[in-house]
Amino acid sequence: MAPESEKVRIAVLHGPNLNLLGQREPEIYGSLTLGDIDARLREEAASLGVEVETFQSNVEGLLVDRIQEAAPRVSGFLVNAGAYTHTSVALRDALAGVGRPFVEVHLSNVQAREPFRHESLLAPKAVGAIMGFGVDSYVLGLRGLVAHVRRVEAAPSAPAS
Ligand code: DQA
Repeated sequence: MAPESEKVRIAVLHGPNLNLLGQREPEIYGSLTLGDIDARLREEAASLGVEVETFQSNVEGLLVDRIQEAAPRVSGFLVNAGAYTHTSVALRDALAGVGRPFVEVHLSNVQAREPFRHESLLAPKAVGAIMGFGVDSYVLGLRGLVAHVRRVEAAPSAPAS
């Protein structure tokens, strides 16, 4: 949990090939670039009164490193793990292991696509998942995650036994 008096800080993680947004299969992923999405998230974060930091990698291990490194300074993660969503035990274990809530997001509706995209290894550990709304999946995911973090941080902690 973030120290009191400090702003809630959220780490946004973008997985493989999301650096190609704008040119990559625009009929599926739209025409916005990753920079556009990050800018939209910073705008939304400002209106929610929180801070975001964003990170993209095509390398599974670098995403794991980033989760471990960012966890102590953030209250939660907003994650579009791209194809690793469907394959990565390592990302699932990292997210489950650092004790921070996360929300899974996808630009496309993965449930309406090929069967291999229907399974998410991350979703069972997530607070929730939002998909199919393009950039709005990220925006809605950020709102949901911040509301969750604020609810949890406002809840009285259990008495020490
Ligand atoms: C994606 C969906 C994944 O199945 C795919 O591998 C991606 C992008 C999405 O945002 O719709 O890279 O996560």
